[in-house]
Amino acid sequence: MMHVPFLDLGAQYRSIHEELAPALQSVLESTAFAGGPFVAAFEKEYAAFCGCEQAIGVSSGTSALWLALVGLGVGPGDEVITTPNTFIATAEAISFCGATPVFVDVDPVTYTMDPDLLESAITSQTKAIIPVHLYGQPADMDPILAVAKQHGLLVIEDACQAHGSEYKGRKAGSLGDAGCFSFYPGKNLGAYGEAGAVITNNAELAQKIRMLRDHGQSEKYKHAYIGWNDRMDGLQGAVLSVKLRYLDQWNNARRERADFYDELLEDLPQIVLPREAAYAQHIYHIYAVRVPNRDALLAALNNQGIGCGIHYPVPIHLQKAYECLGYARGSFPVAEESAREVLSLPMYPELTIEQLEKVADALAALLRKRDFAAASAVRAS
Ligand SMILES: Cc1ncc(COP(=O)(O)O)c(C=O)c1O
Repeated sequence: MMHVPFLDLGAQYRSIHEELAPALQSVLESTAFAGGPFVAAFEKEYAAFCGCEQAIGVSSGTSALWLALVGLGVGPGDEVITTPNTFIATAEAISFCGATPVFVDVDPVTYTMDPDLLESAITSQTKAIIPVHLYGQPADMDPILAVAKQHGLLVIEDACQAHGSEYKGRKAGSLGDAGCFSFYPGKNLGAYGEAGAVITNNAELAQKIRMLRDHGQSEKYKHAYIGWNDRMDGLQGAVLSVKLRYLDQWNNARRERADFYDELLEDLPQIVLPREAAYAQHIYHIYAVRVPNRDALLAALNNQGIGCGIHYPVPIHLQKAYECLGYARGSFPVAEESAREVLSLPMYPELTIEQLEKVADALAALLRKRDFAAASAVRAS
């Protein structure tokens, strides 16, 4: 039986191992393990890639979000608006700087922040907005930036799933006050361990974040801020520099595979396919469809050796950890409905045509079977 894993990091490693080995060797020989020249080189390259003046390499995407918030002065008593259908790190970063997450629902087509709902969530406490570029597609940034400007709010982009994706020709992460990236291994640009980055055109903010990630110091043992240890590893900097050279190629390969899924699945009436917004260049970190009976379908696909995921099964406002915010079920109907129906299909640049066809055929067969079962049940009643 042909197995189709959800992700295949090994295939990517094998395609670049000849370049990775000497890059890692250089770090080992120079012993520049924590921060240092390999991180600095990657920062320059990533800033240029994003069309931004500054990139600061940090220890994870979660840290990137936290550092951006703290660097911009968000703290206790402040509210930060984001969406509930994101990875919990977006909300955690807000909580861990002492502020309160406030949610708004998402657009039913892109699953990103619905700009029309923003105004109603703004209070005198609101300090910032964090749109999440979910699955690799940017949120609709122009209306979000317009509302932010009108109310004097900061905008921090959670671009943790959107390396190289574009909004009206500009790179995700480069549009607000700061953009935050995760280089968790499975991301489109993934490290071989934990890593992240903040990008910004604000030199003062960049300098502050450089200090905050290193215990608030700019000089050894002179601490101007109460910071934290959020430095990026030298080994990760070296890996990311090698992989960055391939990012456009890999993103294009994902886009081609998304087009192929679209073609193979478009005739199935039971399925809702992902759609690229007119303003966007989607980089398909995740190819998420919506299906009826999602959990049964997921189990059946897994049984056939097809690895699928759910991003995300429980929206943040319904997580036990965030009961304290007091949101009831039904508060964000679009996010809640998508949490019940979304199914992430295998997606990575090395997927073969045969693998894509296997996924699509299996999905189609299962959906047809279910329809047939439902039709017989109606006839029998
Ligand atoms: C939308 C989003 N925000 C934040 C994060 C946190 O990144 P990390 O896992 O690198 O801390 C992730 C990654 O998992 C993410 O997908």
